[in-house]
Amino acid sequence: MKQLNIGVLVGSLRKESFNKKTARALMANAPDHLNFEVIEIGDLAHYSEDAEANVPVAWAAFREKIKSKDAFLFVTPEYNRSVPSVLKNALDVASRPWGHNLWDGKPAGIVSVSIGAIGGFGANHHLRQSLVFLNVATMPQPEAYIGNAASLFDDEGHVINDHTKEILVNYMQAYTAWVEKHVL
Ligand code: FNR
Repeated sequence: MKQLNIGVLVGSLRKESFNKKTARALMANAPDHLNFEVIEIGDLAHYSEDAEANVPVAWAAFREKIKSKDAFLFVTPEYNRSVPSVLKNALDVASRPWGHNLWDGKPAGIVSVSIGAIGGFGANHHLRQSLVFLNVATMPQPEAYIGNAASLFDDEGHVINDHTKEILVNYMQAYTAWVEKHVL
């Protein structure tokens, strides 16, 4: 079985983040030939074209990581009905300079996680909008909006809600098939 290298980008920097916990649960439900790496995005300076003259070390390392991946999994909260700025900044950093869009043509999935009832729908779809422009093959179905996140995990960060467990298992099955269809 060909090994597939998946970059996981989480839109929350918070230590006890429900999105980080969800990302861990998703990775735990994937088959062995998916090799995950959570790519840190919190140390990337805000994107400015001026900095292309002297590229920050953190940008260069991040770009190398993005270049090396076959596919991506985005797990994100919703901030004010949109994508958290730290995740949008990461998209921007690896999309430039012009002509060097490192996301180009790769498959991805989006899971949004919120303490609210509508599961980060706004962030999920704003992220899709950027990924359309970046020519990322974002899995259309199943959609995954995980709401009421504060009630879904135990103190160790494990999912305790059976319906949520089922959603995450089904999502990873579909995601794996989606990535294989695009990469193999
Ligand atoms: C939020 N939160 C939030 N939730 C939501 O459902 N819709 C929203 O628009 C927002 N907006 C928002 C803005 C900002 C600045 C913060 C800090 C939070 C609440 C959010 O769902 C909650 O903080 C989650 O716990 C964030 O995810 P993590 O950090 O637990 O992964």
